[in-house]
Amino acid sequence: MTSTGIRLHAPAPGWSINADVVVVGSGVAGLTAALRCEAAGLKTVVVTKARLDDGSTRWAQGGVAAALGEGDTPEQHLDDTLVAGAGLCDEEAVRILVTEGPDAVRRLIATGAHFDESEEGALELTREGGHHRRRIAHAGGDATGAEISRALVEAARARGVRTIENALVLDLLTDGDGRTAGVSLHVMGEGQHDGVGAVHAPAVVLATGGMGQVFSATTNPSVSTGDGVALALRAGAEVSDLEFVQFHPTVLFLGPDAEGQQPLVSEAVRGEGAHLVDADGVRFMVGQHELAELAPRDIVAKGILRRMLEQDAEHMFLDARHFGADMWEHRFPTILAACRAHGIDPVTDPIPIAPAAHYASGGVRTDSRGRTTVPGLYACGEVACTGVHGANRLASNSLLEGLVYAERIAADITAAHAANGLHARVPEPVEHPEVPAHPLLAPEARFAIQRIMTGGAGVLRSADSLAQAADELQRLHTEARDALDENGKTAEPGVDTWESTNLLCVARVLVAAARLREETRGCHWREDHAERDDTAWRRHIVVRLNPDRTLAVHTTDTPDFPPTQQPQQRHQEQ
Ligand code: SIN
Repeated sequence: MTSTGIRLHAPAPGWSINADVVVVGSGVAGLTAALRCEAAGLKTVVVTKARLDDGSTRWAQGGVAAALGEGDTPEQHLDDTLVAGAGLCDEEAVRILVTEGPDAVRRLIATGAHFDESEEGALELTREGGHHRRRIAHAGGDATGAEISRALVEAARARGVRTIENALVLDLLTDGDGRTAGVSLHVMGEGQHDGVGAVHAPAVVLATGGMGQVFSATTNPSVSTGDGVALALRAGAEVSDLEFVQFHPTVLFLGPDAEGQQPLVSEAVRGEGAHLVDADGVRFMVGQHELAELAPRDIVAKGILRRMLEQDAEHMFLDARHFGADMWEHRFPTILAACRAHGIDPVTDPIPIAPAAHYASGGVRTDSRGRTTVPGLYACGEVACTGVHGANRLASNSLLEGLVYAERIAADITAAHAANGLHARVPEPVEHPEVPAHPLLAPEARFAIQRIMTGGAGVLRSADSLAQAADELQRLHTEARDALDENGKTAEPGVDTWESTNLLCVARVLVAAARLREETRGCHWREDHAERDDTAWRRHIVVRLNPDRTLAVHTTDTPDFPPTQQPQQRHQEQ
């Protein structure tokens, strides 16, 4: 698979540095990969869009799922993950996750992360949706991601990993053989490395996180604009399962027009015994699933939305008043503070909640070593589709996936360098002047995209809602393209315009996949195809961008990788 040659409209790099590996992103996956590569003697550069701890990891509350408790086994964790994934997990990928997971957590602890422990010094474990056991390790009560981020950032600094902050990655650079040669990026800094530049490296690890900002209301921070998936598509890589966007069931409801990042109310609150109730106090999840409030996340989100539709209500409630003040303060201090900051006291009031976009179960397609279809390009964490999550990620499997697959990537890069001789090759990127740069969207397009996606491709989708979303997205794209083709005009290059352009890119692929999947499975819910259809749809939708900017879409029922050449259906004009 070679690069499409498509790149974002941007000035030519004005500076460059060389490395053995460049890691894009500084959450749990990125920093774990970087620390392991650095420890193996590789010259490693981390580039990150804002500050080192500004990504999604810091916001994770619940914890890390791993079979660490007495009587628990990787096999039981595997079973729960496969059930949540609704028939689309790659069982081998899950097996790797659950068997390598416990040691990866122990290594994280050795790196300096402090998890909550009992008085006897055993890890405290909680439950979340879809888990039949207490297997979620947590830190600071409900501040697990913040603690992991702190530990990894400190370790990276202590070990002298080179980092470039406030750096938005633009495009993958490739050499004459189509192999990875580094990235172009834009740095908002001072001094030597300012503006558009390049890091030349034979290995690039994408760990850019998610794309929650494609919807109006999300638990994701503002930096989660799908940059990694969009870059990978332009680079010719395959993406898979993008239609499976997980909506977290319990996000603090701040009004119907709330936009941007919304406060999460962790599943662990339900894991410790909170109840979902309607305005009359009725526990509506009881009787819908044997685990009631602790059913897999997609089932709970659907249960909430159904009740909201039945009762014409804007939200439901999470009732944990019975925890009492002490438990709230010690076990869930972050959530307590967020609720109180918005005028709700969970000690005395039920918490208003509604589902909001939370996690991309799909992403850039990788094998079990984190390799994408572009040689030298790797992906891990939320940006990747390793096959672990299938149609619906099991709660708290994501931090674990970031740890396990980042370590595998570091091992693969280290082995490749050892085989080729360390520091042997400084790659030489080639230009593709024959391919016009990608037209840019104005910054305001971000809000139009969010509105379109929330209206047409949110929790509940239909052929009509998706067709309308596809049309409106196409209009945005055509306007930008025509302005460039006919008048040579495009929005001024800059962080906002590159982000809007990336959001449109991932939104179009997401909608194309959601339209194609005419069934309801996992977190993809079709009003007009309400049943799961294993005969037609126990398959993955895989999308690639052609050099002429059309989408190449195919479906596959096998996790085989690299993918066998299958008939490719031209799907949609770009
Ligand atoms: C939560 O704490 O509910 C979020 C955990 C997750 O998304 O895995």
